[in-house]
Amino acid sequence: MTQPSNQPNKKTEIEADLLQLARIALTGRMQDIQVILRRFAKRYASSMPEVADGLTTLLHELPTQASPLRQQADLPLPVDLDTRLHLLRVEAEPALDHEPIFAPGVTSALGQIVEERRHPQKLIRAGLDPTRAALFVGPPGVGKTMAARWLARELGRPLLILDLAAVMSTLLGRTGTNLRHVLEYAKSTNCVLLLDELDAIAKRRDDHGEIGELKRLVTVLIQQIDDWPSSGVLLAATNHPDLLDPAIWRRFELHVEFPLPDHSAITRFIDGMLAPHFPAVGKWSELLAVTFAGRSFSDVERDLSVSRRSAVLGDVPLDEEFGRLLANASVAKRARIRFATTIVEQGLVSQRKAQELTGVSRDTIRRRASPKKTKITKRRNGKDTS
Ligand SMILES: Nc1ncnc2c1ncn2[C@@H]1O[C@H](COP(=O)(O)OP(=O)(O)O)[C@@H](O)[C@H]1O
Ligand SMILES: [Mg+2]
Repeated sequence: MTQPSNQPNKKTEIEADLLQLARIALTGRMQDIQVILRRFAKRYASSMPEVADGLTTLLHELPTQASPLRQQADLPLPVDLDTRLHLLRVEAEPALDHEPIFAPGVTSALGQIVEERRHPQKLIRAGLDPTRAALFVGPPGVGKTMAARWLARELGRPLLILDLAAVMSTLLGRTGTNLRHVLEYAKSTNCVLLLDELDAIAKRRDDHGEIGELKRLVTVLIQQIDDWPSSGVLLAATNHPDLLDPAIWRRFELHVEFPLPDHSAITRFIDGMLAPHFPAVGKWSELLAVTFAGRSFSDVERDLSVSRRSAVLGDVPLDEEFGRLLANASVAKRARIRFATTIVEQGLVSQRKAQELTGVSRDTIRRRASPKKTKITKRRNGKDTS
């Protein structure tokens, strides 16, 4: 949605500057970006002194992408000696595209971590430490990585992500050294560190040639977790808790289970995802959520994106794509009937439309739908659907 403007056709100076900044920023050339920001600081000194001051301060602090943690750590980012690839992904100012939807258990566990960090004095006075290490457990695509990002954002700390699957794919002989470097680096910064795909370490266990190396690696990991300072937040995520070494598992004081989203979580997710592009989403989210039962958030996200793309390319309304999605969904027959009945009872669609969407005949729908509720539907729709 565009904001109403006094001069809808005339680009203001600020609009032009914003576009120019975007153009330069997208080239990724830090020096050019700094030059243009310096120019803006001068240009806006009289008309918007606060903005100009803010820009000047930022330029002085120079938080560049190459050293987002400069003020906190002088150590260089750890790099694998063989590949020279950065082992760590650093998000200096963690941001989310959309707000996460967490199950109640997850919300309260994460809320507790945040509260502990916000009131450390209270804990210290009682002789307690805040939670140092938490393990996120759950299937792929349910928000474990997102939760780490959310926590870092809430705590105003940078997020460091070490993808163990990636580390393990490098020469195993070096992994122990690499892991130690990364953890030493993370310890020296006031950050949230996420050891992502922690089970990658365990998965290599059947590879007999490397048993000795793996044992050493697990030992390094255990030592590092034990040494982790209580000022830092150490998180780890895994899809396969059963593969984890029990000694590692025990070292995490808090275990947070991330379940697959339930019907209402999927409905809210669909609403949130589609509302900006598709005002009629309210009519569809409940229906679509039924077809996505048992799937992860990232599955839902992917399927909806596919539908949106094909609607745009095929020049068809999104409703039509959703109809197809519903028709193809492998929802069990009994669930389809219940579903068709419910949407008619709730007055979401006519019997004819329900048949079209679900493949359940109007006769069946008519027989099953509660007459009392359906009457309400008819009245609300203002027409007889039988
Ligand atoms: N709980 C959630 N709430 C909202 N979106 C989610 C949630 N979980 C996953 N997603 C979506 O799926 C994507 C992948 O999630 P991610 O956190 O990487 O999953 P995991 O780490 O559990 O495999 C996210 O970027 C987000 O768009
Ligand atoms: Mg993840």
